[in-house]
Amino acid sequence: MAIYTEEILEKFMSLSDKLATELNHFLKTITYENSGDLDTNLNEEERQKSISLMRVNASGEVSAQALYRGQAFFTKTPDVRKHLVKAGDEEFDHLVWCSKRLDELGGKKSVLDPFYYAGSFTLGSVAALIGDGTSLGFVEETEKQVVEHLRRHLKEMSPRDVESRKILEKMLEEEEIHGQEAKEHGSEELPPPVRGMMTATSKIMTTLSRYF
Ligand SMILES: [Fe+2]
Ligand SMILES: [Fe+2]
Repeated sequence: MAIYTEEILEKFMSLSDKLATELNHFLKTITYENSGDLDTNLNEEERQKSISLMRVNASGEVSAQALYRGQAFFTKTPDVRKHLVKAGDEEFDHLVWCSKRLDELGGKKSVLDPFYYAGSFTLGSVAALIGDGTSLGFVEETEKQVVEHLRRHLKEMSPRDVESRKILEKMLEEEEIHGQEAKEHGSEELPPPVRGMMTATSKIMTTLSRYF
């Protein structure tokens, strides 16, 4: 009986540790602030355009890492978890770059970021509970859509905003690697309606983050 109670207590402690880590990560992500010197080389139109694009990208990075954290939390495969945590850490680096650049441009992060985090963490959790193949398929499709979206942003952004462009190009390179790694770990192709739903959701999120 005592051993049984001890086992339950141990499981409870380990779960509460894991939950505390996730709460910590959530707070670190949504409260992250980074300050840089104001960039005065752009005209007002270019600056406003870059602010709206970089705000969308910062929100995208909040969502990306929440997705990875949710997936890592529920996967039962240590190797897959290791990969997801590493990719999630790289998404945090992307958030740091976007957030610093946003500050240099005189812009603010989206007020919707906490909702994006919560929604994406839930989505990642559900995908992981279905299975690693689906979960990694989700990563592969997400990263593919992010790469397409970054390419569109590079077309839309002023060629004179060299600093923001450098960030987007570096992110694009790493998102392509994330997609490739998901494939190597055994991703399964998602059904077309799921892919369509993902496109629609990301369209809503990117539109909202441009303004709020
Ligand atoms: Fe990223
Ligand atoms: Fe990524």
